[in-house]
Amino acid sequence: MTRPVNVAILGATGSIGQQALDVIDRNPSRLRLFGLTEGRRSARRTADHMIQGQAGDSDFDARVEAMVTDPRCDLVLVAIPGARALAPTLLALKAGKEVALATKEVLVMAGALVMKAAGERGLRPVDSEHSAIWQCLWGERSEHVRRLIITASGGPFWAHPDLDLDQVTVDQALNHPRWSMGPKVTIDSATLMNKGLEVIEAHHLFGIALDHISVSIHPQSVVHSVVEFIDGSMKAQIGRPDMRLPIAVALGYPERLPDAVPPAQLEELSGLEFHALDESRFPSVRLARQAAVAGQGRPAVLNAANEEAVNAFLVGAIPFSGIVQTVEAALNAYPGGGESLPEILEADRWAREFVKAGVRGAPSGRLKA
Ligand SMILES: NC(=O)c1ccc[n+]([C@@H]2O[C@H](COP(=O)([O-])OP(=O)(O)OC[C@H]3O[C@@H](n4cnc5c(N)ncnc54)[C@H](OP(=O)(O)O)[C@@H]3O)[C@@H](O)[C@H]2O)c1
Repeated sequence: MTRPVNVAILGATGSIGQQALDVIDRNPSRLRLFGLTEGRRSARRTADHMIQGQAGDSDFDARVEAMVTDPRCDLVLVAIPGARALAPTLLALKAGKEVALATKEVLVMAGALVMKAAGERGLRPVDSEHSAIWQCLWGERSEHVRRLIITASGGPFWAHPDLDLDQVTVDQALNHPRWSMGPKVTIDSATLMNKGLEVIEAHHLFGIALDHISVSIHPQSVVHSVVEFIDGSMKAQIGRPDMRLPIAVALGYPERLPDAVPPAQLEELSGLEFHALDESRFPSVRLARQAAVAGQGRPAVLNAANEEAVNAFLVGAIPFSGIVQTVEAALNAYPGGGESLPEILEADRWAREFVKAGVRGAPSGRLKA
């Protein structure tokens, strides 16, 4: 009999981490909690490796390295938001571990380096849209794929075109209509920057050109994404908006774990809507594409400026509409750099400094794009 897969969770107290613990609990013959990290909260669980603290602190980083490179560890689920997840992701991949990646920011800032470290093994996506695309691609040949269509709920403001985005409060922005998630990804969903990040994430994960990846607003969040093939056929993955399904797909691969979520009932799916994205109101996807096409560290600038701008919004230092304006200002000001790891980390540092200095210096909390 094969032993259960030893899973380490980075970010076990978060939204993804907690749902992953639930998936592991319900599949004891296949999955075992081997290690976990906690930030400020407690996961109230025991494991062989238990690490508490903040990524970037030397003790935390050293202990995470020991956990993700431990020969007994089979699979690492990366679910700490933001750029700080890059180092442990690269360590796990270089140690030959399977990696299930929730943290899209890692692929946005350093997609080429991360995919190179993953090699033939690849990565297991956890984002629901990328899990959908991954599942649609199983058994297909890459030359038969014409286009990826990433669906987007639209977030809390898409359906309210008359709303003044300057006046949106933090509570309103955190009130996602479909998904219950951590604050960073929830604000990204409201600005639609989440879709911009996901376009870059899909480009790296599946090796599809950026201009063959589109976004469609689908408020019901039941069709998680679509793959179009060269013969005109389209495959979509359908499921309730419940992250335990893509988590179970990633942890269980290549097996499917039984009863991860109740299936959607087709009779309940009448009235599914798909709409074009209004890029003049939500320019994030355009900005992300431009950054990815231009390269030279710009995706890392996009990502870091966005992280800092989201933090500034959450503490009331800039208005909601200032988030994307800040990202655009950073991209416009960035002189360009290289794409090695030190150069990407430098681009990340530059963007954070740029945004912090701008937020401190601009009385309106806005940087001029
Ligand atoms: N939630 C979703 O449904 C969803 C869907 C798709 C993709 N994602 C992606 O998955 C990632 C995680 O999202 P989430 O919603 O699960 O976030 P979350 O609920 O905010 O949880 C974040 C986790 O990371 C830990 N953490 C945060 N900052 C840390 C730091 N500096 N050092 C060490 N640990 C730290 C937190 O610890 P404490 O809370 O204990 O401090 C917590 O365990 C994000 O990149 C997001 O874009 C999430």
